[in-house]
Parts: sequence; structure tokens; C-alpha cells
Amino acid sequence: MRTQVCIIGGGPSGLLLSQLLHRKGIDSVVLERKTKEYVLGRIRAGVLEQGLVDLMRQAGVAARMESEGYVHDGTQISCGDALIRIDIKALTGKPVVVYGQTEVTRDLYEARENSGGQIEFNVEGVTIHDARTDAPSVTFMRDGTHHRIDCDFVAGCDGFHGVSRKTIPDDVRRDYEKVYPFGWLGVLSQTPPVDHELIYAASDRGFALASMRNSNLSRYYIQVPLSDRPDDWPDQTFWGEFKKRIPQGHAAKLITGPIIEKSIAPLRSFVTEPMRWGRLFLCGDAAHIVPPTGAKGLNTAASDVHYLYQGLCQHYLEGSDDGIDAYSDKALARIWKAERFSWWMTNLLHRFPEWSDFDLKMQQAEIDFLRSNEAAQRALAENYVGLPY
Ligand code: FAD
Ligand code: DHB
Repeated sequence: MRTQVCIIGGGPSGLLLSQLLHRKGIDSVVLERKTKEYVLGRIRAGVLEQGLVDLMRQAGVAARMESEGYVHDGTQISCGDALIRIDIKALTGKPVVVYGQTEVTRDLYEARENSGGQIEFNVEGVTIHDARTDAPSVTFMRDGTHHRIDCDFVAGCDGFHGVSRKTIPDDVRRDYEKVYPFGWLGVLSQTPPVDHELIYAASDRGFALASMRNSNLSRYYIQVPLSDRPDDWPDQTFWGEFKKRIPQGHAAKLITGPIIEKSIAPLRSFVTEPMRWGRLFLCGDAAHIVPPTGAKGLNTAASDVHYLYQGLCQHYLEGSDDGIDAYSDKALARIWKAERFSWWMTNLLHRFPEWSDFDLKMQQAEIDFLRSNEAAQRALAENYVGLPY
């Protein structure tokens, strides 16, 4: 097989890149290790920045997001029973859109399939060859048969556990990592959301987040110890703990009901540098991870896709390599700011087991400052809606 861009990973990064390139007449093949059903079964992010919303429009996949997504002009932070509303629209001129990653991915699959896009599922043993030459290739196995794709570029969109990052030699690559001493237990419940906006709740029992997918589907999270398993949290135990962490007024009106998904994700900050090695480019979780506080994971994947897409368009349509040469530096400059914001918001809202009374006072002072200071609220809002590309 031959293609212009071989994309490893059929998650949101890989699919979005493939669809955007297709609209400019640039050919790609997507290689995905799992089945489509498996990818669509993963419940992940829910808040889209304006940049990703615009990319969905450019990719021609925005119709359902426009009709079914929820435009949010504000977000809320609670500390005990006190609520701080951050009026992100008034502070930045922009809202965010609540629309699940599952739906983004579903829309992208549909668009790729409708335009005859080639997606190979259930691939095994994906290996990148000759990334430092002008003629890279990718080999893989499917149904017991060896396959090889010759290409101009390889886009490594294969998430944190993929092969792309590991293809860059250790003496070229530098990894930066922080692992947090807790995870998030997330549930999806067939109940109306407790509030029409999100609530990021700091409490002396730990963090909680009230989010949503639609008028009868809520997405709720609580901070849990890393050693916990979903089975340690029967539904009633979850609801009881969640109620203790959100403001009393909200706890009183919370509607509990069937939980249809329950999972625990560890929290990590991670960045690898550089994001390019020869003709291999890393995008999204393959290159960086943020803790989910602040909803930056999917959105940073989108900004990488934007920079790589621009660079590849310049290469194919204008004959210039300036864009792909600048890719790693441009993407990383934005990534590090999103890393900072996610790390800051994690520190603002979680209980760290090792913290001293002094650390707790600092956290309280930070929240009090945010409550009373418009500049602090604006800084939060600008990061939350997404820094410009
Ligand atoms: P992925 O979505 O990971 O997609 C990579 C794809 O590559 C996968 O489909 C994978 O199967 C495939 N793949 C991997 N290895 C190979 C291989 N060797 N060959 C071929 N294919 C391969 N972000 C938020 O903002 N809010 C959240 O609440 C949130 N929750 C999350 C919960 C979990 C459990 C996880 C893991 C992430 C969460 N994120 C969240 C982060 C967000 O979902 C990711 O940032 C986003 O999915 C990144 O998209 P991606 O396409 O780069 O990577
Ligand atoms: C959701 C997840 C987040 O990490 C976040 O900050 C906001 C919303 C969600 O899954 O809805």
C-alpha cells in the first residue's frame, strides 16, 4: 500500500487529522489497534474549546455538535458550600461547548466512512521504519497477514501507550513526568444533571466534578486513592460520597439513579520533547498527558492536529516545509501552558495526602483570591476556553 500520510491511532487526533487532510485532497490511511466499537465505548472528555469547535467545522463534521452540544458561558468552582461562578463568556468573549469525546469520535468515523477513508482496525505489531529518511514505511499484521504502507510522513496519534513515541530513540527524546497520588472515579448516570453548568468542587473530603452529556445523562467524578478499584464503589456508596463533596444546596436536589459506566483513571502530567523525529510527528496523548482537571486532554490533542495539518498543507500545497519544521516548537509552546493550567487547577481543588496544614492554608488562600479577584478569574477563564492557536 502507499499513502501520503500514514496515521497510527484511530482516536480523536488520528481521525480529525485524516478528515482535515482529506478535505484538502491529501491522502491518508489510519491504523487502529482496536475495533471501532471499542474506541466508541471509551467514555472520556466532555468540554470542547473554541479551537476544537472550529476544527470540527473545518473538517465538515460540526452538524450534530451544533445541534446537540451545549454552549456554556460559565463554569463554577465550589469550596464547601460557597460557589464561585466564572463568567467565561464575559471575561473572554468565548464560551465552551459540552459535547462528549465519544460523539466527536463517532462523527469523525462517520465522515471518514462516508468519504471512503481507509481505516484499518484490529492491526497488531505496528512498526515504523526509516522515519529519518524521505521514504518512511509502516508495517503491521492483520488477520495473520503482514502488511506494509509506504508513505511520505507518519503521524503518531496512538495515545500514551502507543508505539510512536517509543520509536524516537532514548538519546533524542526527553520525558517530563509528574504522577499524582490519586485518581478520578468517573460515573455516567441516566439522570438529569444537578446543575446546568459544571461544578468543580473542592471539599475537605477531596475533589468532585459535576458534568453532563445531555438532559438525562450526567457525568460525575470524585477523587479517590490510587489503590481503589471501581468495585470498591457500589452505586450507593458513590452517591453518598459525591453528595458530601458538592454544596449542600446541590446535594439536596441531586437526582440519583442508574449508573451505566464506572471507571477509575490515574492522574498524570507528562510531556515528551521533541514531538518530531525526521518524518515522524507525535500528536495528542502520544506526546503528552494532563490531569483531567480543566478539561485540556482532548483540546491539546486538537491543537497539535491543527499545527500538523497546517504544516502538511504547506508542504503539499505550497511546497514549503516551514510549517512542519516549526511543528514541534509551536505545539510544545502551547502544550506547556496547558500543562501548567491543568497542574495548577489540580493543586487548587484536590486533597493531597502528603500536604501539611500550611499547604492547606495556601490552597484556601488561592481559592479566596480567586473568589474576590477579577484578574484571577480572567486568567482562569482564558485558559479554560483555550489559549489561541
Ligand atoms: P487516544 O484517544 O488515546 O487514541 C489513540 C488511539 O490509538 C486509540 O484508539 C488506541 O487504541 C490506538 N492505538 C494505541 N496504540 C496503537 C498501536 N500500537 N497501533 C495502532 N493503534 C494504536 N480528557 C479530558 O479532557 N477530560 C476527561 O475527562 C478525560 N478523561 C479521560 C479518561 C481516560 C481513562 C483517559 C485515558 C483519558 C482521558 N482524557 C480526558 C484525555 C483525553 O481523552 C485524551 O487526551 C484524548 O483521548 C487524546 O486523543 P488521542 O487521539 O491523542 O489519543
Ligand atoms: C469532563 C471532564 C473533565 O476532565 C472536565 O474538566 C470537565 C468535564 C467531562 O467528562 O464531562
